[in-house]
Amino acid sequence: MNRRPLIAGNWKMFGLAADLSEMEGLAPHAARLTGLDIVLCPPATLIAQAAWRLKGGVMGLGGQDCAPAQQGPHTGDVSAAMLKDAGAAWVILGHSERRRDHGESDALVRAKADAALAAGLTPILCVGETIEERKAGAADSVVTRQLARSVPDGAPASLVIAYEPVWAIGTGLTPSAAEIVEIHAVVRAALMARFGADGAAMRILYGGSVKPANAGEILALDGVDGALVGAASLKAADFGAIMEAHPAARAGN
Ligand code: PGA
Repeated sequence: MNRRPLIAGNWKMFGLAADLSEMEGLAPHAARLTGLDIVLCPPATLIAQAAWRLKGGVMGLGGQDCAPAQQGPHTGDVSAAMLKDAGAAWVILGHSERRRDHGESDALVRAKADAALAAGLTPILCVGETIEERKAGAADSVVTRQLARSVPDGAPASLVIAYEPVWAIGTGLTPSAAEIVEIHAVVRAALMARFGADGAAMRILYGGSVKPANAGEILALDGVDGALVGAASLKAADFGAIMEAHPAARAGN
């Protein structure tokens, strides 16, 4: 199965208008690396301006969350349609920081994924175990359960899963290469058991402390279809270097 690699950046709650110059620094990489999908997820406040500045470029934009409701009296929430209207085509959902900070459950993440798909956005749906769960030997079962409960029925082949071990996010720690390969295979098996050929086509990204120094090794691993990058996506030099480290880039495409 030939899945097109995807590298997505998650700016989290960082970035003001002045920082969009970093995003513009990525455009030449994105234009040259035609074998990769490149997506940047800035704060919601910057999406419209980013879209305007990227006009005609190949880089995609995403939100970092959306509401489960289409519209209504939900002060402070941003709907999937609003993200789309601002220029986003993607949305990160179920990130562990939202699960932690806002108590987001698998059921809520699933409702948000349904809303995103209904609005025409492609979800990048995050799953991943805590360090306690990994130490207890429960990483596979936790991730399988999160997938079962948070990925909607009828999810299309375009839906993206990001495997992000909670303990690797922002810590500089990463699982071993063997651990990443093993759990990506678990995710793949679960997707195929439930969605058949569509489950074989869904992309599975690795996320958690991806940086220029380890991107080449991680992106070349079996079953890793790309990366979701946090801190290292804030600077064009780092995020560009991660893109350039992809085997498809080194192969000249
Ligand atoms: P990090 O974050 O690359 O800073 O570890 C990854 C993420 O949270 O998506």
